[in-house]
Amino acid sequence: MEKVTTKIDPDLCVGCGLCVQVCPVKTLSMVNGKAEVTGDLSLNCGHCQAICPEGAVTVGAIDETMSEFVTFQGDSNWLAYGEFNTGQLVRLMASRRSCRSFLSRPVERSVLEDLVKIGCTAPSGTNCQLWTFTIIPTREALMAFGEQIRSFYMKLNIMANNGLLRKFLKFIGKPELDTYYREYYQTVKEGLEEFDRSGVDRLFHGAPAAIVVGCKANATLPREDALLASQNILLAAHSMGLGSCLIGMAVEPMKRDIRIQNAIGIPHDEKVYAVVALGHTAEEYRRIAGRKKVTVRYFEP
Ligand SMILES: Cc1cc2nc3c(=O)[nH]c(=O)nc-3n(C[C@H](O)[C@H](O)[C@H](O)COP(=O)(O)O)c2cc1C
Ligand code: SF4
Repeated sequence: MEKVTTKIDPDLCVGCGLCVQVCPVKTLSMVNGKAEVTGDLSLNCGHCQAICPEGAVTVGAIDETMSEFVTFQGDSNWLAYGEFNTGQLVRLMASRRSCRSFLSRPVERSVLEDLVKIGCTAPSGTNCQLWTFTIIPTREALMAFGEQIRSFYMKLNIMANNGLLRKFLKFIGKPELDTYYREYYQTVKEGLEEFDRSGVDRLFHGAPAAIVVGCKANATLPREDALLASQNILLAAHSMGLGSCLIGMAVEPMKRDIRIQNAIGIPHDEKVYAVVALGHTAEEYRRIAGRKKVTVRYFEP
């Protein structure tokens, strides 16, 4: 938890107790009929500020500019439960597709910055919000990043092509290289050759921009936080007229070779969990793609 940054204006407080009830960590209490900060620690989640009917609460840790958007008209009014059109929400979710055919048209930096703020509306473990966003704003920058990724896979493919090495590693209980060889080696080989031959970018699918989503090491649940923020970005991108694609192929090399994330300015104490390629898209779908049958079960003792 963090230091308390909540302030309550006693002149505005009417003592309804709502902020005390909603505080998840009992930072606030009622004292002589008014709310007071009595705890030392806080999640700085802002529940108290959001629920106060009198506007008596402020949480200093909350940066108001994170809710200000440049490229669209934001609406900061809280939407009551059940007030949104679920059909339209699901339509947006189901219409998002992983784009593999981006146009070269650049994406404005202000759009990318708004997408980062939208990412940050996601929940995070203990509200730590320790996610980080590295914007790769141009095709040139993305190509330079891609070069690092390609060089990683070139070296990996040389190793994976060595049958003796694969067998030895498997023998000592490290079957990963053998699994990679069976599942990815050939596709990666073809992708690398095609890029060398004709510049076709099977990695980022020609995207003109990307956002690399990571998290600082001291986050409570870094992977979950980063991926929830990423999903927000994917959905918002669609609503803003952009295609998107998660590029897991670019995440794995950064996990295995810290120098790659350092090369794009991400320090050692952060981990990368998602690379979201973004751009205007050449794809135009006619209908929503369905999903496979899912396993659903009840547990009712
Ligand atoms: C964690 C993760 C990693 C992914 N990595 C890649 C990737 O490296 N390249 C790619 O083209 N698509 C990648 N995808 C996209 C999936 O292939 C895609 O989500 C899936 O085929 C379903 O299609 P849809 O996203 O259009 O619904 C990734 C998706 C996820 C969730
Ligand atoms: S919600 Fe606002 S008015 Fe109600 S007790 Fe808390 S500070 Fe006072």
